[in-house]
Amino acid sequence: MTRTVLNGPDDNSRLGGLLRRLAGTASTNIGFPAAVDIDYRKLAPFLGHLLNNAGDPDIDPIHPHHTKEFEREVLAFFANLFRAPEPWAGYVTSGGSESNLAALQLARSRYPDGIVVHSTAAHYSIPKAAHLLGLSTIVVNAQPNGEIDYDELACHAELHRRRPIIVVANIGTTLTEAVDDVIYIQDLLADVGVHDRYLHSDAALSGIPLALTDDPPGFDLTHGADSICISGHKFLGTPMPCGVLIARHHNTDHLPNAVPAYIGSPDTTITGSRNGFASLMLWLVLHELGRPGLRERAQYGQELAQYAHQRLQDIGWPSWRHPHALTVVLRTPPASVLSRWPLPSMDGRSHIVCMPGVSHSQVDQLAAALAEKGKQMSRPSELDRSTHPACATRVGIP
Ligand SMILES: Cc1ncc(COP(=O)(O)O)c(C=O)c1O
Repeated sequence: MTRTVLNGPDDNSRLGGLLRRLAGTASTNIGFPAAVDIDYRKLAPFLGHLLNNAGDPDIDPIHPHHTKEFEREVLAFFANLFRAPEPWAGYVTSGGSESNLAALQLARSRYPDGIVVHSTAAHYSIPKAAHLLGLSTIVVNAQPNGEIDYDELACHAELHRRRPIIVVANIGTTLTEAVDDVIYIQDLLADVGVHDRYLHSDAALSGIPLALTDDPPGFDLTHGADSICISGHKFLGTPMPCGVLIARHHNTDHLPNAVPAYIGSPDTTITGSRNGFASLMLWLVLHELGRPGLRERAQYGQELAQYAHQRLQDIGWPSWRHPHALTVVLRTPPASVLSRWPLPSMDGRSHIVCMPGVSHSQVDQLAAALAEKGKQMSRPSELDRSTHPACATRVGIP
């Protein structure tokens, strides 16, 4: 009898080992932003079917194995949450990274000679997308707190004001959850005479909780963004990566939007074949929780982050957080702590992300591990969160 590789004698033990690793590391995996409070297993029966949302979300494909009717409801929810004026467009993507690529493709379709401007704190998918699309980029310094340096941005914009400028604003940077001020950026660009401009809000990390916060900073489409993206596996904790892009509608007839006869739906997305489970999962969580349930979860995360910050202060471990953030930035723990608590770390700073499902007890356990180490170390120095002096007053352009 021939055996395939996937039917080997130790398959079960390998799969069991993987499950044990995932379960065994879950309680200390609080450095990466994935909510763990939502059980998607009621969708397990659908695993018996291929769900492929190939093509444009508005037009069903010929094959019946898709979830586009659910996808359209998901998109309508986000268009509403991010106050997209009619007409708007968008689709469920494979993640924030693809959403960023699709957003920059839209920007390029409007401004083929546009220059992408992003900060040093932008996610790595932004320079990659610009490179793939052949767009030139200007990288502006981020302030120490993670926000873009507005004065430097304005200087570059003024220098290139005759070219279209495509700004990517961070709505929650990956490392500190800093939020760039979209309204202020639009004003700066107008002040220096940039007429042709496109602004993409990369809200992969913080878009949902921020939009549900009282008095959120301006970052949505009514505030002046042209497009906005979120990740589905972060605040919504879907067990597979996915994302959403919502954008102002504009004419894309000049793009290769052919309707492949074989699929029957226009090829308007980056990937073509798309994950129908992602739309179903997003629909489920939005449907079950609604805005009130999501808002409650956002508040929980913010309060837990406040608690974590306080716990770290209490033990003398340098830390800080932005208002509204679920992220707490802390001085990088020693390797012996990191080996159990895998926290993303750069330049002496690490972070935890207090996503829904993370518990006070997990925070307490990390604090206890740090307190133990702290006793063995000299008094920790302050963690630098100072604001770039040039930006302190947010002066206009000379
Ligand atoms: C600010 C920001 N943008 C984009 C992404 C990429 O999102 P995804 O992992 O969904 O591709 C991330 C992920 O960490 C992020 O933090």
